[in-house]
Amino acid sequence: MELRVTDVSRLAWTGDCLAIGLFENGIDLAGDLADLDQQLAGTLKELIADTEFKGKSGDTAITRVGSGSPIRKIALIGLGKADGLKLDGVRRAASASARLARKEKCKTLGISLPPWQNDPVLTTQAIAEGVELALHQDTRFKSEPDEKANLPEQVELLGYGGQEAALHQASQICAGVILARELVSAPPNVVNPLTMAETAQAIAADHGLSLEILEQEDCEKLGMGAFLGVAKASDLPPKFLHLTYKPEGTPRRKLAIVGKGLTFDSGGLNLKVGNSSIEMMKTDMGGAAATLGAAKVIGLLKPDVEVHFISAVTENMVSGRAMRPGDILTASNGKTIEVNNTDAEGRLTLADALVFTEKLGVEAIVDLATLTGACVVALGGDIAGLWSPDDTIAAQLMAAAERSGEKIWRMPLEEKYFEGMKSVVADMKNTGSREGGAITAALFLKQFVKETPWAHLDIAGPVWADKENGYNSVGATGYGVRLLVNWALA
Ligand code: BES
Ligand code: MN
Ligand code: ZN
Repeated sequence: MELRVTDVSRLAWTGDCLAIGLFENGIDLAGDLADLDQQLAGTLKELIADTEFKGKSGDTAITRVGSGSPIRKIALIGLGKADGLKLDGVRRAASASARLARKEKCKTLGISLPPWQNDPVLTTQAIAEGVELALHQDTRFKSEPDEKANLPEQVELLGYGGQEAALHQASQICAGVILARELVSAPPNVVNPLTMAETAQAIAADHGLSLEILEQEDCEKLGMGAFLGVAKASDLPPKFLHLTYKPEGTPRRKLAIVGKGLTFDSGGLNLKVGNSSIEMMKTDMGGAAATLGAAKVIGLLKPDVEVHFISAVTENMVSGRAMRPGDILTASNGKTIEVNNTDAEGRLTLADALVFTEKLGVEAIVDLATLTGACVVALGGDIAGLWSPDDTIAAQLMAAAERSGEKIWRMPLEEKYFEGMKSVVADMKNTGSREGGAITAALFLKQFVKETPWAHLDIAGPVWADKENGYNSVGATGYGVRLLVNWALA
């Protein structure tokens, strides 16, 4: 598929499908739309009347245009109220256009959407992201794709001539999102600590980042007992990954991104109970996938900020070597942890990852983790939980989320709840009671960050989509990549 920007107007465009965004109060067709309706012998008005199209966001309508017309089909995409349009609304409208064009087997698609807040750069980027992410299909593990792809071959953004740079940036961002999606959706017999390390190597080689891989012995030397406790039962070696992007010249900021990297989480010996579906635990490296996806994008965009990308990658397995419920682990900052639940393993791996990261002397740390089912219960499948003691970094992330369309909601770091994590024998347990389980997980992580501004994102919900949702198809979403890139570039 080729994406292009053009100044050809919607009156002059020719091709298979012309998709036009309409606001709720814009369906009475003024200006050039009245001219277009005339040119199409009244088809636009008829389509609006026949389908009772109201222009609400999510509304779509499409119809064949009489032969002899310069376009084959005309599609209407609802944008909602003009004053309520968000940048992600533009992205979703673009994805709706692309999905319609694919369904209707249109090879060429012209998209006509209004600029968001008169910003053609951000609008171009959002449209391009919406199209590319909606049309991405992962068929790597099928011997034959379910359906013929029917992908549009050429998509043109009408009215955005000259925005080639924004278009290019969007495709670089999408490359990172798609990498993250493919890492998350790949099965755990394919994506494991070794292949995650290979992916980091490829990113380093392709985009000029430096890579440090700490092997098990290196982690032992650093005293990473919490991470290694989790890794013990796996037949595969753990890999602690540290990618560094350094700009030419003095960096404007120094940042770090840490991702939970459990390529499979069986739960360990306190086996997964209840309705926690173990077969979905290939997604438990979603934080690491977003981290690697962001590393790829930063490597492509080459901004003037230094960014470190860290993930302690392993599997949580069962075997005679497995850590036992009741074991006490010592993390690399010397703190001791009584493991009362081996299924609360993510926070153990993150503990050592955060201690390592803080020693890098960065200005801010953000971690992303598919950390708790409790966060999914609290916020559902679309929204990540945000915890931070630092209002500045929290505000930065909320602004980045607004731009990227990846939803986050700030949650409390209620210190009192940490009382439930007190251990009789060690400095802390790794699990509190079920109530407030996402909060106590965040409080646990906080024990491993001393003074660097830090934020934690629990992405257990949005890492995977059970239903098609805008530009996310069913499956891995690549959640976090665009959010992280927006944050790093701000
Ligand atoms: N990887 C899971 C969390 C998870 C749940 C991710 C659902 C994606 C979807 C995590 O390691 C886990 O098992 N958490 C436990 C913690 C509990 C034992 C304190 C949970 O949420 O049940
Ligand atoms: Mn677990
Ligand atoms: Zn886990």
